[in-house]
Amino acid sequence: MAGGFVSQTPGVRNYNYKLTPKVFVTCFIGAFGGLIFGYDLGISGGVTSMEPFLEEFFPYVYKKMKNAHENEYCRFDSQLLTLFTSSLYVAALISSLFASTITRVFGRKWSMFLGGFTFFIGSAFNGFAQNIAMLLIGRILLGFGVGFANQSVPVYLSEMAPPNLRGAFNNGFQVAIIFGIVVATIINYFTAQMKGNIGWRISLGLACVPAVMIMIGALILPDTPNSLIERGYTEEAKQMLQSIRGTNEVDEEFQDLIDASEESKQVKHPWKNILLPRYRPQLIMTCFIPFFQQLTGINVITFYAPVLFQTLGFGSKASLLSAMVTGIIELLCTFVSVFTVDRFGRRVLFLQGGIQMLISQIAIGAMIGVKFGVAGTGNIGKSDANAIVALICIYVAGFAWSWGPLGWLVPSEISPLEIRSAAQAINVSVNMFFTFLVAQLFLTMLCHMKFGLFFFFAFFVVIMTVFIYLMLPETKNVPIEEMNRVWKAHWFWGKFIPDEAVNMGAAEMQQKSV
Ligand code: BGC
Repeated sequence: MAGGFVSQTPGVRNYNYKLTPKVFVTCFIGAFGGLIFGYDLGISGGVTSMEPFLEEFFPYVYKKMKNAHENEYCRFDSQLLTLFTSSLYVAALISSLFASTITRVFGRKWSMFLGGFTFFIGSAFNGFAQNIAMLLIGRILLGFGVGFANQSVPVYLSEMAPPNLRGAFNNGFQVAIIFGIVVATIINYFTAQMKGNIGWRISLGLACVPAVMIMIGALILPDTPNSLIERGYTEEAKQMLQSIRGTNEVDEEFQDLIDASEESKQVKHPWKNILLPRYRPQLIMTCFIPFFQQLTGINVITFYAPVLFQTLGFGSKASLLSAMVTGIIELLCTFVSVFTVDRFGRRVLFLQGGIQMLISQIAIGAMIGVKFGVAGTGNIGKSDANAIVALICIYVAGFAWSWGPLGWLVPSEISPLEIRSAAQAINVSVNMFFTFLVAQLFLTMLCHMKFGLFFFFAFFVVIMTVFIYLMLPETKNVPIEEMNRVWKAHWFWGKFIPDEAVNMGAAEMQQKSV
């Protein structure tokens, strides 16, 4: 097959494919789904450090910020202020559970569309907010949007991508998230300089732009072959597979998709089934990977970088500028993962990134500890503050090519079709739950744990790195419907996977077990 590839993965079937423009364009548009999440992640921190916003909705925090300089660690501590940031994640958690049914029954694209739509309405509520209630309702609608998009987009990308390049394509989601964060930070930088209430309104209201992008994108996107088969459109699925793989010789991959779908149809209750021992590796991974991703502490930087930099004594403008720099570094470093994840594999990136984050967190905690001590008083010199910013950048870079993209990639690629939507829903809801906890508790934790907070996250980075080393087999280049072979070969998980599961489908397995 001229210009084509045959994927070479020992122990699993190899499929024919060409890299078609169609698969690129489709995945590019699909990845837009990450923009709404990213825009929100990036906008909240900056808005909550804008004085007119605080004065309007959180006068208590505003007063405290203006007056109390005696304890830097507690300057922004307010449950109501953090509720503004974190309420979105509770809504996202709940909606991802519904989204799993919509994604399965109506296809991936309609979940994305719905995500864009609710996000759009939420942005209007926020941009025109007159009181806290409007703000919170807006946040909840935005959260519904994020839940739908995060549930469907990673699965969409993993299913569309040729197996050998699944990592790179799926990482498009994380690139879009970070791109959204960077754009939001840049917007905040400019709107923060506007007088009166117009600045924060523009920041919050502009969330409608990525919302419209994903809505239009979802309307023109085709659905994945896997989802078409799952919903009975077998002929269309084959044509779709041929057109995205750029060859008519897709019989082998197509047959595997059909087999996987037949098997999954016999499994009536994905939520009950995922509890069966044979799905134990997927269940554990889809719970622990998002948990650990949040316990890297990344969102302390994402949400509160401007607040953190102000705590370090930077002015409001310099704080937003520094947040912009860390965002741009995160974006650039995510490409390291895009270009290496299918060559070096997931494990190498997880382990290297973990060690890098660990070292930088310990250094950040130690420096802040030395400068501010336990009392949280004192001043930090310019060069020390710059050194801390540099360390934060090293930490962010480590996250950007490891837990950031892989936290979405691995859970979306390890589950067989019959539990995929449920597994992804668990992944998103666990992720959102811990995003919520970190967002809600960070300022209080900073106030109480002080610089020890960085050691707290470093401790979890040690645990997660050991966890990956021992428990996660390499999944690069393995066709998504062939993943059982990998689990079967693993020293620990192997015993949960019955021999037949590697050759036999879920349907036969179920019949056998009755
Ligand atoms: C995480 C987010 C994080 C973002 C940017 C994503 O993979 O899920 O919680 O804010 O990366 O760092």
